[in-house]
Amino acid sequence: MCHPAIGLINSTFRESILFLVIFFQTASPFPSTTTNKIKPLTVSAGKGRIIQLPVNDVALSAFVVQEPDKGETYHYTWSMVSSPNGDKDKGLMEGKTLDTVKLKNLIAGGYIFKVTVTGDNKFGESTVNVTVLPPARMNTSPVAIIKPTNQVIKLPNSGVLDGSDSTDDDKIVKYHWEEVNGPLQEHSISGDSSMLKLQNLSPGNYTFKLTVTDSDGAVNSSQANVTVHKETDYPPKANAGSDVVIHLPVKSVILYGNASTDDKGIVSYEWTKTGDTDITNDVSGVRTPFLHLKDLEVGDYTYTLKVTDASGQSSSADVHVFVKPETNQPPKAVTEKSIEVVLPADNIVLDGTNSSDDSKIITFAWSQKSGPSQLELMNSDRMVAAARGKLKEGIYTFQLLVKDADGQTGTQLLTVTTKKHANLAPVANAGGDKVVYLPVSSLVFDGSNSKDDHGIVKYKWSRDQRSLAAGDIVNGSASHAVLQLINLVAGRYIFTLTVVDVEGLSNSDSASVIVKEDPNKNNIIELLLNTDIHDFSEENRVRFSFIVQFNFIKNCFEKRKVVKLLLISYLHVQFLVKIKTKESEKVQPGVDIVALLRRKLRQNSDILDYSVISIDTLVCQNKCSGHGRCELKTKKCICDAFWMQNFFTASLFLYESNCDWSIIYVVIISFILVITVTGATWLVICMCRSKRYAVFVGYSVFF
Ligand SMILES: *[C@@H]1O[C@H](CO)[C@@H](O)[C@H](O)[C@H]1NC(C)=O
Ligand SMILES: *[C@@H]1O[C@H](CO)[C@@H](O)[C@H](O)[C@H]1NC(C)=O
Ligand SMILES: *[C@@H]1O[C@H](CO)[C@@H](O)[C@H](O)[C@H]1NC(C)=O
Ligand SMILES: *[C@@H]1O[C@H](CO)[C@@H](O)[C@H](O)[C@H]1NC(C)=O
Ligand SMILES: *[C@@H]1O[C@H](CO)[C@@H](O)[C@H](O)[C@H]1NC(C)=O
Ligand SMILES: *[C@@H]1O[C@H](CO)[C@@H](O)[C@H](O)[C@H]1NC(C)=O
Ligand SMILES: *[C@@H]1O[C@H](CO)[C@@H](O)[C@H](O)[C@H]1NC(C)=O
Repeated sequence: MCHPAIGLINSTFRESILFLVIFFQTASPFPSTTTNKIKPLTVSAGKGRIIQLPVNDVALSAFVVQEPDKGETYHYTWSMVSSPNGDKDKGLMEGKTLDTVKLKNLIAGGYIFKVTVTGDNKFGESTVNVTVLPPARMNTSPVAIIKPTNQVIKLPNSGVLDGSDSTDDDKIVKYHWEEVNGPLQEHSISGDSSMLKLQNLSPGNYTFKLTVTDSDGAVNSSQANVTVHKETDYPPKANAGSDVVIHLPVKSVILYGNASTDDKGIVSYEWTKTGDTDITNDVSGVRTPFLHLKDLEVGDYTYTLKVTDASGQSSSADVHVFVKPETNQPPKAVTEKSIEVVLPADNIVLDGTNSSDDSKIITFAWSQKSGPSQLELMNSDRMVAAARGKLKEGIYTFQLLVKDADGQTGTQLLTVTTKKHANLAPVANAGGDKVVYLPVSSLVFDGSNSKDDHGIVKYKWSRDQRSLAAGDIVNGSASHAVLQLINLVAGRYIFTLTVVDVEGLSNSDSASVIVKEDPNKNNIIELLLNTDIHDFSEENRVRFSFIVQFNFIKNCFEKRKVVKLLLISYLHVQFLVKIKTKESEKVQPGVDIVALLRRKLRQNSDILDYSVISIDTLVCQNKCSGHGRCELKTKKCICDAFWMQNFFTASLFLYESNCDWSIIYVVIISFILVITVTGATWLVICMCRSKRYAVFVGYSVFF
């Protein structure tokens, strides 16, 4: 029964106590319990206790319902049944054997304590729960933090106050913004979120208060100042324009105040008359940018323009109007003062366009003052007039008179010197002598450098007696400045140019042009191809050139001319062979080339794609074996008397014409042949008498 109490003390000690208890019970002097029934005691340890840290002690009292008998005392024994950490802390209880036990150093958690009460043959027990609550949390009140604490906002911008940096140990559950101080406004600004938007502000100093409430209901607040500046609005600048000077009869003027400026716009203009003149005049538009002044009189006026902007700022500027009496300057007549007119002429132009006046010239009047003859004036009341009539050599004087509206006048003289026309004879220039080389397609004699002081009216080219008759004048150019000749042959051409001027004066000049033979004439080679020109395209020509150049002649080759078409049905191709080196070009002798080409063509007549009818130098250089001359056109030899062409070569392809055979020799040889044949025939006939030889004779004749 003592066991629970013993549980709290150490084991050796516990064993000795147990022994003592056992001993005590065994040696009890009291009436034996074995015989008496044990009476129960009703014990109460009171209600369960709840304490909260930091309070960590409590006293428990046991109460027994039954009164002890006389002389009897109850014995109490307290023990701990359970504790939050399971330990049976011995130092926890004080007065374990008393009816009241003091508990100390309790920790948070639930304890169960038990009390047993014993008396004489009586026993009772009770338990009591002690609950130790953890200490109550100490709430720290929140701290309201506003960022920024001070700010300046310039209208029309808006601003923000940020309270979200406010802190609390647990949690802020409520924000509240209020305007503590601020300029008068319809609505004061407030808010219930962590940020406060500052909109529709008025200029002034605001103080805002943020109150934060935490989860425990604790509050804290902070304030922030916001200075709101109104929009910068610069004052306007009045500009009443420049001072005005007017002369009567101009009586009205407009004053321009529209150059006044303001950053936000001017809302009102106001013109007032200032200064000390008390002359009255008609004004209109005093509340507009433009002030119209009318019926002004001579005097000085000062007007002040006051401009006001939307915020009531204003500025002023003055402008002066000087009204001066009428001033009319006399008009100025302006002419060229002196001019020259070359006779013959039938009129003189009188120009007064440069005359001027401050207002307006209303009258022009031209008159002749002097001169060798009286002239008729046309349009004499106009700015520009003309003098007509028989103009004579000498000096004419005219006067221009101008008048303005006020009748003021100005005059100017115009002196016209008339001179006889001096015409110089023209100078012909036929272009000078020159030398040109064939081939040239055309030739010009340029007479365009001929000169005359008044212009050449006629050109005439005439052929000189000594000139070649060849060369055709084309395009009627014999009467033009430039003479054109075509179909030229070598020789000297002489032409005389006669130029005639307006007055029929003339002058002549001759020029000669020597047209020289082509230095390469002898080297030009002419091929006659058997092809129709209608089938010969440019492509064929290029190809042909290529073949000639690379297949036919191994040397470098340059076309003397493009294909020159001389006949309708055949093609004449003329060319020249040059050997080009870096330094020079050397024309190859035509005769050599012809010999070379002939040789090649005889070997292979298809070498040129086209069949060749003839090949020769353009100028026949055939010596005709020294017994004839070559005919230019046909390039065949015309042999001298008693000479003839070699009968055999003449029939061969591409052989040179010649005069190899002497007719005398040919006749003699022919004669000998005839004699021989005749003699032989006669011999055969004689033999024919014998039949035996008949067959032989027939055979021989056949041969
Ligand atoms: C004491 O605590 C125990 C366990 O926590 C529970 O079972 C018992 O009902 C409690 N007694 C009283 C009187 O509250
Ligand atoms: C606002 O505060 C500034 C200084 O912070 C002060 O000079 C000014 O007078 C105040 N304005 C008003 C309207 O109180
Ligand atoms: C708010 O908290 C701060 C910092 O703890 C303290 O200084 C201040 O007095 C408090 N304000 C109010 C109104 O309680
Ligand atoms: C706000 O302004 C008031 C007076 O204008 C001043 O006393 C106070 O210190 C200012 N508060 C802050 C946070 O600057
Ligand atoms: C003022 O008004 C006049 C007439 O309308 C105009 O010619 C001129 O340009 C204006 N000046 C300015 C500065 O706008
Ligand atoms: C008029 O004046 C202009 C400019 O000065 C001048 O070129 C012109 O020759 C003048 N004409 C006459 C007819 O005086
Ligand atoms: C012929 O003369 C006219 C006018 O004189 C000229 O325009 C034309 O160019 C000339 N023709 C040739 C081919 O020179």
